[in-house]
Amino acid sequence: MNDTASNIASPNSAPLAASVDVKAMFDRIASRYDAANRVMSMGIDVLWRRQALATFAELPDDAIFLDLGAGTLDGTAAIATSRPRARVCAADFAGEMLRAGSPKVSDTHARVALHQADGHVLPYRDGVFDGVFSAFCVRNLVRLDVALAELARVTRPGARVAVLEFFRPVKPRWFFDGIYNRHILPLIGWAITGDRAAYQYLPESIGRFDSTHDFETRLRVAGFTDVSTKNLFPGAIASLITATRGNPE
Ligand SMILES: C[S@@+](CC[C@H](N)C(=O)[O-])C[C@H]1O[C@@H](n2cnc3c(N)ncnc32)[C@H](O)[C@@H]1O
Repeated sequence: MNDTASNIASPNSAPLAASVDVKAMFDRIASRYDAANRVMSMGIDVLWRRQALATFAELPDDAIFLDLGAGTLDGTAAIATSRPRARVCAADFAGEMLRAGSPKVSDTHARVALHQADGHVLPYRDGVFDGVFSAFCVRNLVRLDVALAELARVTRPGARVAVLEFFRPVKPRWFFDGIYNRHILPLIGWAITGDRAAYQYLPESIGRFDSTHDFETRLRVAGFTDVSTKNLFPGAIASLITATRGNPE
């Protein structure tokens, strides 16, 4: 695949985007999302978030962060508690997810703002953020290049970005994709949330999303530099992609 925006396979055209109302789906499962998440990930997502947040170590103590697709605020709460002078804007278009997670930031609420907002049109001024964290959201963005351009707009030159995601595997992973994700995970999700479709969407959305290489390319095209990928334990199921906002020309 060539490194140009026009040559990156766009997930925007895939039929799933039209058939799944992602916002309604997350609003529907919001109250049971954390319970399902903890069982399915066996708590490993907590370690992944910690690794992602460690990449912000060089940012100033009073940095301003965006948590994009903040959901039930695990990332937002982790940033706000680990960095006592930081401010965090948690943006998510599913208001019920933010509401379900709001008790997690009750101690730090003075430095946390919850915004029901779409990642394609963020309600922030240009260049306000020093750091952007996004966990398991970008796979859902139906116009990904538009959303990454928006991310570039709201970050200052030198800002750090850390994206956790399940990217499309380059080589087939028979157990994780063929058995766990396809069969076991929808059953667990169904048992805990009563919503089987939401957990069938997860493997489908991974299968149609970018590989890490595709996503790295998109970030560079959007104006980010120092783009790099770390595959996370166990078995490179999830990846952490980090980048720095370049200087606009
Ligand atoms: C899998 S959840 C992850 C939530 C949280 N970041 C976490 O790590 O648990 C994905 C979140 O992205 C949000 N999301 C998806 N598409 C979005 C969009 N276009 N704009 C804003 N939020 C979006 C969903 O509402 C959902 O809360």
